[in-house]
Parts: sequence; C-alpha cells; structure tokens
Amino acid sequence: EQIKKGDFDHFMKKEIHEQPDSLTTSMRGRLKDGVVGLGGLKDHMRTIRRSRRIIFIGCGTSYHAALAARPIMEELTDIPVTMEIASDMLDRKALIFKEDTAVFVSQSGETADTLLALEYALQHGALCVGVTNTVGSTLARKTHCGVHINAGCEIGVASTKAYTCQIVVMVMMALAIGSDKMSTLAKREAIIAGLTKLPEKVHDVLKLDGEMKALAQSLIDEQSLLMFGRGNNYATALEGALKVKEVALMHSEGMLAGEMKHGPLALVDEYLPIIVIATRDDSFSKQQSVIQQLHARKGRLIVMCSEGDASLVCPDGRSRVIEVPRIVDCLQSIINIIPMQLLAYHLTVLRGYNVDQPRNLAKSVTTQ
Ligand code: G6P
Repeated sequence: EQIKKGDFDHFMKKEIHEQPDSLTTSMRGRLKDGVVGLGGLKDHMRTIRRSRRIIFIGCGTSYHAALAARPIMEELTDIPVTMEIASDMLDRKALIFKEDTAVFVSQSGETADTLLALEYALQHGALCVGVTNTVGSTLARKTHCGVHINAGCEIGVASTKAYTCQIVVMVMMALAIGSDKMSTLAKREAIIAGLTKLPEKVHDVLKLDGEMKALAQSLIDEQSLLMFGRGNNYATALEGALKVKEVALMHSEGMLAGEMKHGPLALVDEYLPIIVIATRDDSFSKQQSVIQQLHARKGRLIVMCSEGDASLVCPDGRSRVIEVPRIVDCLQSIINIIPMQLLAYHLTVLRGYNVDQPRNLAKSVTTQ
C-alpha cells in the first residue's frame, strides 16, 4: 500500500502529507505513562550514560536530523554532543575513543560513507548505535544496538517523513538517556506532552500547502534563496535549503544566523529572497534583531514565526510571513521544516522538474 501514490501526484507530496501518521507510528509503544521506553537501547543504557561524548554521524538529510536533535541531547544528558559528516570523519581520520557513543543516522542504513565511518568507529572501540528506517539493513546489523524509526517506506529521493521521524526518535533517545536526572524532570514532562500533541500540530501546519504554493509561484524565477536559522532551527535552515537545491534545482544555502554579520550580510539587497526562521524559543529575540538588521539593508524577507507573532516579527507589514503552530522548543524544528518541504515540492513542480527522481541523485548512495 505504501508504495502506491494513492491520491497524490508524486511520492514526495504523499510522504510530506503522511507525516502525522508516520510520526505516530514512530512513537507507538514507546511512550507509556510519561516514560520513554526504547527496547533497542535498554541493555546498553549504562554504557551510554557513562560515555564521555556522543558523536552524531550521518550524511545529507540524516545529518541534519541529528543536528536538530543535538541541543536537546546535550540539555537532557549533560554529555557533550559533537557532529560528524561521515565522509569528513573518514577524511580527517577523526579522533574517536572507547569512551564515546557513536550514533549513526541513516534512512536506508546502506549509505557507503556512513557504513565506512561505522567500521572505523567499531575498530576504535566506541559503542555504536544505529538510527535507521530499514530493518535488516547493514547499519542495523553491524551496530551494537539501535532504534528503528518506523517511518514506513520512503520512495521520493528527497527525504521528508524519514527526517521528521529521525528527529522524534533522537528526542526520545535524549529523554531515555536523561531519564535519571531530577533537574530536568519538568522539561522532560513538557517534551512528552509536546510529543503527544505533535501529530495534530503537524496536521495543522500541512494546511499551509496552498500558501506555500503561492510563495513558490513568487520565487520560480529566482537564482538563489537563503535561509537563516539558529539554535534548534539551524538544522531547519540547512535542511530547507537542501530540499530546494536537490529537487527544485535552485541554488539555496542554509546559514547560521549568528554568522550573518561575518560575511553573508554582504549578499543582502532588495532582490535576493531570504527566509528567516524566527519561531519562539530562547533565540527569538536574537532573530528579531537579525530581522531588523536585514530590514535596515532593504532585504527581501520571508519570515517564519509562531502563530500570532506576525506583527512582532514584521511591524511594518513589509515582509511575507509564514505563521506556524507553536510547540515545545526541541520539537519546533519538526513543525518548521514542513512548510519548507512544501515550498521545495511546489517550486519543483512549477519549474517543471522531476520531484521524485531529481537529476544526478540516488535515494541510497552505496558507493564512496
Ligand atoms: C542520499 C539521498 C539523501 C539522503 C542521503 C543519506 O544523498 O539522496 O536524501 O539524505 O543519501 O541517506 P541515508 O539513507 O543514509 O539517510
């Protein structure tokens, strides 16, 4: 059933719209009475909690999912989390130790770079954890333990529902690893409450489909599109830009908003479209000041904000605003990526490109 398009024109669109269900499936049986249970990690939990460092390793969208989960993993576990793009880890022969927990994230579980990085981490004695959508994949078989994301079969080359399910699984991992800490109990309860509301909020944000199509229409002839995010939404900027580049074949860059003044600001003029992610969390006021600085340079802004904040982020009504439902900070990136997925989808169709099979790309890259 899952490999048919049903009422949808393309797999990418179907998979975007499946997200309320795929997220529900990802969480099924894992949240009971306010406690997270991840059977696949149970036997190794002591070792994970004692590790000196957690390293997230992946490629493409899977790397971005790990980046989105990094802040909450650090906050709930008190263990430093570092990020490695699999190929770069191998190029640098990065240092990795027995006291490390290495978390490998891969939708297919067959990406060559990720599997080579896994071999490398195994040789160095790290505890290796897999986060994958593919039961029986090489990643699932070769890691010491892991969690399946249960997103269902993903056909579109551009990953959508696997991305949001990967984030949800890594947030649940953070809850499980940090579950012995009294100091974060209130935060953990807020996240669990957020997880139960998540599918409904994703359902709500999908109603922006028409608005994203209209936005895509206004951008079809552009050469370039920038996306600025920070904190929990740095990953959203990178992943949103990756979606636009891989399917709509438009140059797009996701940037850390804190770095804007160190270079990217030179690009700002009244023509280059810039999406600024400014939903509510600890970095909201910093994003407000980024918006002011961009306005002062006559930037052409599209601002993503929390529902009800339009007049706060854009007092003079000059920018286009995308309002999204608010949820606990570490889950906001799941809500925020969905309008970007829809935007990339519509841009691709309007520009006349192949959504499900973008040129030069493969769903699973099994060569180095
Ligand atoms: C390819 C795909 C991407 C994907 C990446 C990692 O490049 O085109 O969509 O994010 O591989 O794939 P994985 O299966 O390891 O998540």
